[in-house]
Amino acid sequence: MTPSLPATEIAPDKRLQRLVDAVQELSLARNLETVTRIVRSAARELTGADGATFVLRDKDKCFYVDEDAISPLWKGSRFPIETCVSGWSMLNKQAVIIPDIYQDDRIPAEAYRPTFVKSLVMVPIRTMDPIGAIGNYWAHTHHATLEEAQLLQSLADITAVTMENVQIYAELEERVKLRTAELEVANKQLEAFAYSVSHDLRSPLAGIQGLAGILQEEYRDRLDGEGQELTDLILQCVKNMTHLIDNLLVFFTTSQKELRPGDTSMKEMAEEYFDALRKQEPEGRVFEFSVDELPNAGVDATLMKHVWINLLSNAIKYSRKKDKTVIRVGFEETPQQTTYFVQDEGSGFDMMYYNKLFGAFQRLHSDQEFEGNGIGLSLVERIISRYGGKVWATAADGAGATFYFSLPRETVR
Ligand SMILES: Nc1ncnc2c1ncn2[C@@H]1O[C@H](COP(=O)(O)OP(=O)(O)OP(=O)(O)O)[C@@H](O)[C@H]1O
Ligand SMILES: [Mg+2]
Repeated sequence: MTPSLPATEIAPDKRLQRLVDAVQELSLARNLETVTRIVRSAARELTGADGATFVLRDKDKCFYVDEDAISPLWKGSRFPIETCVSGWSMLNKQAVIIPDIYQDDRIPAEAYRPTFVKSLVMVPIRTMDPIGAIGNYWAHTHHATLEEAQLLQSLADITAVTMENVQIYAELEERVKLRTAELEVANKQLEAFAYSVSHDLRSPLAGIQGLAGILQEEYRDRLDGEGQELTDLILQCVKNMTHLIDNLLVFFTTSQKELRPGDTSMKEMAEEYFDALRKQEPEGRVFEFSVDELPNAGVDATLMKHVWINLLSNAIKYSRKKDKTVIRVGFEETPQQTTYFVQDEGSGFDMMYYNKLFGAFQRLHSDQEFEGNGIGLSLVERIISRYGGKVWATAADGAGATFYFSLPRETVR
């Protein structure tokens, strides 16, 4: 330890204020290190001593944890509880005032000879069942007053309470950590289960699709109008369910997937997936689509594709009622992040329900109005948050919506 300068002498009428300050500081302390730091300087300043030590009981030893003094004392040393004065104070559960250390047989003179100490006061921390002690030391003969000893004892009492709190906090934190880890494991198991269920649903679904496809193609002439309609409906339902399962499979694997760096052309991606999605729309729908010169992103294209597909397919789907579908893809940059956005002039939504927007299986429109499962946006949010970004939206009921996602600059090229 670097020896510190003599403590600033505090006028007697300011000592109480110094104690109050220390109490306030201690009430905010959350770990032992902070407690010792606060106590060692408060202890010294309270009495204007030349040194202060913070001692903890370690079974049958006194551990000199920390100190603040004009020259080194015993920081880091352990002494048998029976042979040192902090031990005496703890075992006897009372304060000790010693004006001349060489005249008192409770003092191991050998340990004091190399130090500056002539006089001392030692008080126990937690008088009922002491867990430590606070010492004050003077380089000249000093008859500590009762008031000085009382101030120090008050500091020791509040230190005891603080240390109990610190321990409770540490235990609570440990418990929270443990619970979080347990929850994470349970969550992973649940996701693994949901993943395998989703995966296993694919093959019966493919069977239904194949059979309904045969019905539609080879038996179409033998079906009346209603039969044909029902077959089309089966195929539409199968398509929706396939879409849901595909999204769920990505949803469940996203959190486990290792994030590979990439150099993904966001512009090409937006154009490619828009084209693919537009082809699935009925002929005759009019599109006006524009993409700005988007910066590339250092993200995994196999994940990012789901972001574009879901945002663009939403823009296309929720614009269906308009004569012309207008979609603009653009970006905004700040030094910290790049924000990409997909803007449409479709049905929009009421911002009053915004808090439901990104929740899994949450929808703001009815199935009759627009089909869907409500999983797309939660998937988008999962992917973007894995890259440290955010997703948000602005919209008005009947007046279009804009969906934004940001990526931190280091993931953007
Ligand atoms: N561009 C948009 N315009 C208006 N409403 C939208 C738009 N995008 C999303 N929404 C609203 O947010 C809800 C959630 O969207 P999300 O993409 O998660 O689900 P979905 O489109 O209903 O189904 P899917 O799982 O097939 O994507 C939608 O049901 C819709 O109400
Ligand atoms: Mg969607």
